[in-house]
Amino acid sequence: MKIAKLIAYEILASGGYPTVEVKVTLDTGSVGVASVPYGASAGTHEATVLTDGDMSRWNGQGNLTVISNILNEILPTITNIPAENQVEIDTAMIRLDGTVNKARLGGNAILAVSLAVARAVANANRMPLYKYIMQTYGLITDLTKLPQPMVVVIEGGKHADETTDFQEFCITAKEGGSVTENIRKALETYHQLKKILKASKLSTNVGNEGAFAPNGIPTNEAPFEYIVQAITKAGFTPGKELGISVDAAASEFFNGNYELKLEGRQFTGEELINYYSELLDKYPFVSLEDLLAEDDWDNWVALNKLLKEKGIKHIGDDLTVTNISRLRKAIELDAITGIIIKPNQIGTLSETVACCKIANEHGLITITSHRGGGETNDHFISDLAVAVGSAYVKVGPTRGERVSKYNRLMEIERELQQN
Ligand code: PGA
Ligand code: ZN
Repeated sequence: MKIAKLIAYEILASGGYPTVEVKVTLDTGSVGVASVPYGASAGTHEATVLTDGDMSRWNGQGNLTVISNILNEILPTITNIPAENQVEIDTAMIRLDGTVNKARLGGNAILAVSLAVARAVANANRMPLYKYIMQTYGLITDLTKLPQPMVVVIEGGKHADETTDFQEFCITAKEGGSVTENIRKALETYHQLKKILKASKLSTNVGNEGAFAPNGIPTNEAPFEYIVQAITKAGFTPGKELGISVDAAASEFFNGNYELKLEGRQFTGEELINYYSELLDKYPFVSLEDLLAEDDWDNWVALNKLLKEKGIKHIGDDLTVTNISRLRKAIELDAITGIIIKPNQIGTLSETVACCKIANEHGLITITSHRGGGETNDHFISDLAVAVGSAYVKVGPTRGERVSKYNRLMEIERELQQN
């Protein structure tokens, strides 16, 4: 199969700025469309999200340079490679870019093409996307165990104003079983949480990811109390069906020291670990992500020891940025027990899957995640999560670009049950 036609254009992402979408048509007539998201609290080691910088349109956030790179550089380079040779196409784009972080062509340019080609070939083969990804990369994944929901229900940090220093507080399904049922349980709890916040005189406006972003929340610990109450009120047992996950996104409040503005407190890494350790036995935590800054390796290692003893998963996001080298370092140092997977942190499908494979081989869990800055309705990550056997999919509970991911997961569950 050959690429017969490829177009690239700007679409709006949920953050109100443009992002790039690519439409690939193969010589078989099959079409693949894909768009890419961007982060609000992107790690410094991520692939570059290239924008125009032309202040006369979109405050400099336009994607015309990216589109030009796709049409004038990427397309001529990959046009003669068989479309089913996904690894070869991705490798050609990485070489063409020639930088370590895809700064020249843009990680967004490269990823949009990578994903659109994969989808076009999956469509040509009349295969669900997750099956095509499994086949292409030789993944042997147990499809009776689908990724479970990790639903962001309260957000702060860079995702909302005047609220918590920690970025995301999640309700996480604990028991396996039906994804559809577990999404229901988590969302029923989200609705109970709304009542609890209102009763506490907190606003229930939502932030970037469709989670509550309550102004005037008293402490960074308060959301844990509210979530535990909400789980109980929804008729479940905290720590049994549903637990709590947190993404502190600590790089965002690190400036040499860790500064929790909400509480007017400053900590060294060691002191911050002590602060966390007092919370660990009080709440039913499933996983804790980016509790420390992205290059604070020694403290990551120290915290990992503690969390392993407690049986709580310790997750790298800004630390690892879906990057094989950083993942390998984290494994060698024994710094984490799980990794966030975001294709746009690295910029090709092949590198993303390679990262998941290494995580799987070393017994780490993967959590495939949405982005907080600007998402699109593209639910590629749901198929990816299924294909690589992610333990969880981390997505917000409301807004179209979030629920599209859960709706796709439920669709996959229905399809697998029918077969
Ligand atoms: P983002 O944050 O805004 O950078 O996508 C989400 C996360 O850190 O998990
Ligand atoms: Zn994160």
